[in-house]
Amino acid sequence: MSNLTSSIQISQKSTYHLNNGTQIPVIGFGCYQIPAEKTKNAVYTALKDGYRHIDCAVMYRNEKEAAQGIAEFLKDHPDVHREDIWFTTKIADSEHGYEETKQSVERISQRVKEYIGHVDLVLIHSPLSNREKRLGTWKALQEYVQNPSNPVLHIRSLGVSNYGIFHLEELLNWDGLLVKPVVDQLEFHPWLPRLKLREYLVKNHILAEAYSPLTRGRKFDDPALVEMEKKYKISKADILLKWSFLQGFVVLVKSENPERIKSNLNVLSANEHGKVDLEEEIVTKLDMPDSNEVLTWNGKDLTALQE
Ligand SMILES: NC(=O)c1ccc[n+]([C@@H]2O[C@H](COP(=O)([O-])OP(=O)(O)OC[C@H]3O[C@@H](n4cnc5c(N)ncnc54)[C@H](OP(=O)(O)O)[C@@H]3O)[C@@H](O)[C@H]2O)c1
Repeated sequence: MSNLTSSIQISQKSTYHLNNGTQIPVIGFGCYQIPAEKTKNAVYTALKDGYRHIDCAVMYRNEKEAAQGIAEFLKDHPDVHREDIWFTTKIADSEHGYEETKQSVERISQRVKEYIGHVDLVLIHSPLSNREKRLGTWKALQEYVQNPSNPVLHIRSLGVSNYGIFHLEELLNWDGLLVKPVVDQLEFHPWLPRLKLREYLVKNHILAEAYSPLTRGRKFDDPALVEMEKKYKISKADILLKWSFLQGFVVLVKSENPERIKSNLNVLSANEHGKVDLEEEIVTKLDMPDSNEVLTWNGKDLTALQE
């Protein structure tokens, strides 16, 4: 595809280095659309299989249950420690602004602190408010990162989501910036490779996280993908996940189904030579550098914002 694609060696346990010195696991278990009553079990199952990264959000209405799943897993597996597990949540658009964000963090704390203590990463879920509110949100979030003994909540890292270059510039050029974003979480798949934005992220040492890497199944009828599955005997989901890992993204994938939870992680299992087979020569056949097809978010709003 471009010079952003390279052969990389990763495994289920790999982490990527963030610009604040922390390490984030390369595969994350996504909690969007998992009903609250099923989330604790789904998160527990994912951790038992070997995921070490849980991606949540205020908007998903299941942070408490996700945190309970982590706590229960840690109780049953004393060899794994809280430090080994990464938990992300996101501030909702309706909670932007300095005061509103502080109240949001108080509520997050009430939902998760008794189960998991700190939060590893808090993201601004999307830029859909206005400059004053976005920067007010960042100002509030920075205070928690800068004061690890804040009695409300210890937040270790900050990031953004659905931010294009315009909003990243707004944040990075703001004279109140004290804590740099470590990631930008975006919809990424072969139909939406966003090469220009990725170059900007690389230049600014911000890691790209890929959400909806499976397109939520919306491209499973795509003729090229169907043909590849038949020809190479790799499932469509595996092909799409391998494509995402080859780009160097942190990949977030959701399933409520125990077999699929496991098979998605197993894309990063070692082969008989102890290496993970990303089948680069096959998977890159899906590269569409000029494609710009937003499939899962309210595309109109965000595409306009990211130009
Ligand atoms: N920041 C943001 O704005 C944002 C937006 C969207 C998503 N995200 C995050 O990214 C995560 C992943 O994205 P996503 O949930 O939108 O989409 P996704 O992971 O691309 O797709 C999930 C869908 O694919 C199905 N699926 C999972 N594994 C499969 C497999 N091996 N074969 C066939 N189907 C499979 C799931 O159904 P089953 O559950 O039945 O397996 C579910 O319907 C989210 O959960 C969330 O944490 C963030």
